[in-house]
Amino acid sequence: MVRVALVLAAGVVLFLVVRNMVVPKDFGRYGHFRPEALAVIRAHPVAFAGQGTCVACHDDQAKERAAGKHAHVACEACHGPQAAHVADIANVKPALPDVATLCARCHEQNAAKPKGFPQVVTAEHSGGVACNTCHKPHNPQI
Ligand code: HEC
Ligand code: HEC
Ligand code: HEC
Ligand code: HEC
Repeated sequence: MVRVALVLAAGVVLFLVVRNMVVPKDFGRYGHFRPEALAVIRAHPVAFAGQGTCVACHDDQAKERAAGKHAHVACEACHGPQAAHVADIANVKPALPDVATLCARCHEQNAAKPKGFPQVVTAEHSGGVACNTCHKPHNPQI
């Protein structure tokens, strides 16, 4: 009995020592999480500028988009995060999206998508012709 109790006690001590070593010091200060994580997340650079900024300069594209079915698709949903472009317009020029992958990402037919959402089997629909030969990306209706 004594030996079993000793082994158990040693196990408990080992657990407490290891726990003390691996649990971050600030864990549990306000609850069951690590408050320092907030500072770590806040330190990430901002990648998206928000479309309010895009619209201010790219009036033509904004007007074209507002008139069509892509009115509610955000600029950066297609152009990717552009905070770097907005911060340094003169030197950072965004590459234009590759329509072959871009359009299929949202419109490739998939049974998991809502029935009412416009979907095509791109290979049959376009026969390999680039989507923007027929559809204008900012206002796709033909
Ligand atoms: C302060 C004005 C300004 C803002 C804000 C701005 N842009 Fe621009 N953008 C420009 C200018 C000027 C150019 C042209 C750069 C050049 O031709 O060298 C440009 C170029 C571009 C191009 C490349 C055009 C081409 O012909 O290759 C894209 C795409 C673009 N911007 C998208 C965006 C998006 C998306 C946003 C919002 C996140 C945005 N821009 C915000 C001024 C702006
Ligand atoms: C549905 C995807 C999509 C959305 C939403 C979108 N764009 Fe574009 N944009 C494109 C594609 C694709 C091109 C390349 C056009 C081409 O090569 O024919 C492009 C081209 C551009 C260009 C280059 C000049 C031109 O007109 O071809 C600018 C500038 C631009 N977009 C800005 C914007 C801004 C600002 C917004 C938001 C108001 C926006 N885009 C929303 C897909 C999109
Ligand atoms: C980020 C997702 C997204 C991307 C990328 C995107 N679209 Fe769309 N598209 C939408 C949404 C959302 C609608 C509106 C659907 C609705 O009204 O129910 C739409 C509508 C359309 C329509 C209108 C269908 C109709 O009923 O008239 C066409 C055509 C279309 N897109 C073509 C394109 C093409 C071509 C591209 C590539 C340049 C593209 N889309 C890229 C989300 C996207
Ligand atoms: C040769 C011209 C052509 C090309 C290339 C083309 N389309 Fe279309 N697309 C059409 C026509 C015509 C319609 C039917 C008219 C309409 O709904 O505006 C259409 C309709 C659509 C619709 C709406 C379908 C629906 O059920 O409402 C979507 C989404 C679409 N196209 C996406 C694409 C995508 C993505 C590509 C690139 C892979 C592409 N299209 C390439 C001509 C074309």
